[in-house]
Amino acid sequence: MLLIMACVLGATAAYLGLAIRLFKDDKTQLVYELNAGTVKTLSAEVEAVLLKYVDKVKLLTQGHQSADWTTTVFENEPDLIAFSLYRQGEQPSQWERLSSVRNKDYLKLYGLSATEVDKLREARPIPFAKALAKGQVVFNSTVPGGAPILSLAVAMDVKGRAGAHVAVVDLKVDRFLKMMGDRGIVSVFMVDDEGKVLVHSDAALMASNSQVDNEIVRQAVDSPVGFQMKRFEWKETRWLGAYQNVKVGGLIVIGQAEEETAFLAAKKLIQKSLLFAAIIVTVSLLISGWQAGTFTQPLNKLVEATEKLKEGEFSQSIHVDTKDEIARLATAFNTMATDIQRQQTELKASKADLEIKVKERTSALEAQKTKASEAQDALLRTTRLAALGELAGATAHEVLNPLNNMNIRVEKMKKRLSQIDANNLEVMHQIVDGWKKSYAEGGWDLLQKELSKTVDGGKKLLEEDLDNLATISREEKKKLKDDQDDVDFLIKEMTRISRMVNGMRSLSRVGGERKPLDIHVPIEDTLAALSDLIEKRKITVIKEFGAEAKDSYVITGDRDELVQVFSNLLRNALHAIDAAKRRSGEIRIATKLTQGRIEIRLTDNGTGIAAQHVAKVFEPTFTTKSVEEGTGLGLSISRRLIRAFGGEIEIETTTAGVGTTFLVWFPVQSAAKASG
Ligand SMILES: Nc1ncnc2c1ncn2[C@@H]1O[C@H](COP(=O)(O)OP(=O)(O)OP(=O)(O)O)[C@@H](O)[C@H]1O
Ligand SMILES: [Mg+2]
Repeated sequence: MLLIMACVLGATAAYLGLAIRLFKDDKTQLVYELNAGTVKTLSAEVEAVLLKYVDKVKLLTQGHQSADWTTTVFENEPDLIAFSLYRQGEQPSQWERLSSVRNKDYLKLYGLSATEVDKLREARPIPFAKALAKGQVVFNSTVPGGAPILSLAVAMDVKGRAGAHVAVVDLKVDRFLKMMGDRGIVSVFMVDDEGKVLVHSDAALMASNSQVDNEIVRQAVDSPVGFQMKRFEWKETRWLGAYQNVKVGGLIVIGQAEEETAFLAAKKLIQKSLLFAAIIVTVSLLISGWQAGTFTQPLNKLVEATEKLKEGEFSQSIHVDTKDEIARLATAFNTMATDIQRQQTELKASKADLEIKVKERTSALEAQKTKASEAQDALLRTTRLAALGELAGATAHEVLNPLNNMNIRVEKMKKRLSQIDANNLEVMHQIVDGWKKSYAEGGWDLLQKELSKTVDGGKKLLEEDLDNLATISREEKKKLKDDQDDVDFLIKEMTRISRMVNGMRSLSRVGGERKPLDIHVPIEDTLAALSDLIEKRKITVIKEFGAEAKDSYVITGDRDELVQVFSNLLRNALHAIDAAKRRSGEIRIATKLTQGRIEIRLTDNGTGIAAQHVAKVFEPTFTTKSVEEGTGLGLSISRRLIRAFGGEIEIETTTAGVGTTFLVWFPVQSAAKASG
């Protein structure tokens, strides 16, 4: 398609180019060129033909004695009319004909006998001298009213024969006339080197063998130059002429055209060209229009389809009727759209698949999460139970010991109580009953009388009664003292047990109520609760609380549990100061805000913790204290509570004999939460 377009446009351009050139250039020049071209081509053709005959002449010369063979040559060469071989005689102008062969058919055609032919030859003598001088010469053998004949004389040596020889062939002019044939506005003819007509379409002129007398012919004859063009006037008209020498036989091809005719022709050519160009342009435009239609329509379709494709409409396909590149493009587009649609469908399917999988995986994860949190709860419970179990095991004998002691004491008390009933009460009753009876029977006198009686051992009854009562009272007083001691012991043991049990309860407790509160509140409360103990030991408490606003120190926790934590820590500090026997005990409590943490540092100048114990102090039941002094649960309970509020407790520094610093920290809560 594109190729056709290109061709059409190319042709148009070429024609337009020619037309423009015709308008612009010198028309004379153009006609000259036309003329010159004609004579040049023609002369070349003539030369080739003549050369062929020169060869033929040589052949015929060699075989002229065999008449049969020569006849065969004639049969095969219809343009050959006759062949004759001449030898120069004693006199240079005397020539003897050695042999002669003629085309009988041709003679027959013209109704000529051999003698008549020879006669005709006399009218047109062979230019032997010229032939000898130039080697070959072409001359006109036509006579008025006779057949048009062109002859070629070739000078040559004949084997085995002395003297100069000239071979002559007579040729039909038909072939040359045909060659000169239709040359348009240019009329062509041939002359010899004297300007005499050799071949001319005008038979009369040819038969006359006359000289053509015009400027171009004169120029051709006179000039040593083999080719020329010339503008000249002849027979009252202006001509454009050109000649070209043929290299064989002194023959010259002349071409001439009447200037007016030439210009007219050029004008016509221009007109024709313009018309043709107009037609071509119109056709081109039509074709272009049609082409544009056939191009743009499917292209528009393609653009439209691409737009739709961009918007996600993949189901469309383009139909193009042509079988060109556009159609191939459309097919490629359709394939692409189908591919995209297929991929889209696959993508959707895999997306849906993926979504399902994600959902499945999510719900599986949810389930796993639930299970995990259940498991974690279970683990926590188990851990707590295990801790409790461990604790219970570890502390069982601690609880059982005091219980056994208590049991023994209670048994003793019971025994003492029963002894009171059996002896002393009986004695007291007898005394009191005797006194009551005497007073009732005889009043004060009888009672006095009875009490004054002497009993065993010389003592008066009153003395004995009073002695007995004093003894009983003394005994009871002693028993009472024992009872009091036992009760004190029992109370102590019971306190210990209750501390143990409380500790265990703290460990198993899930956690108290959580509220935002300023961490300084439980610290101050604990200090207040322990103020007696602190003052009694003359311990200095230094408070270094952070200067930030109070609501910066808000944590979420339970006040009572935090009091329990600080109480444990302060009690430990007091104990360590006691144990270190410090004269001036000192406890420093500092609070500080750092990197989203509320830090509380509790420093004492107590004993410090021995290196081998540092790792163990948070273990439940680990204690260095006596049974009466500690359970070993304080720090483990404290840590549990602190962690429950998102915090942590650690020993920051401890040096044996110097003191210890515990660091407790909690994450900072926002002020909004605190106020809420
Ligand atoms: N401030 C301290 N200075 C030196 N040693 C300490 C200090 N605090 C704790 N300890 C050591 O850590 C051990 C464990 O302390 P924890 O509070 O857990 O139990 P306890 O004090 O021994 O017993 P309870 O707390 O039941 O009275 C203590 O026995 C003591 O050896
Ligand atoms: Mg403690």
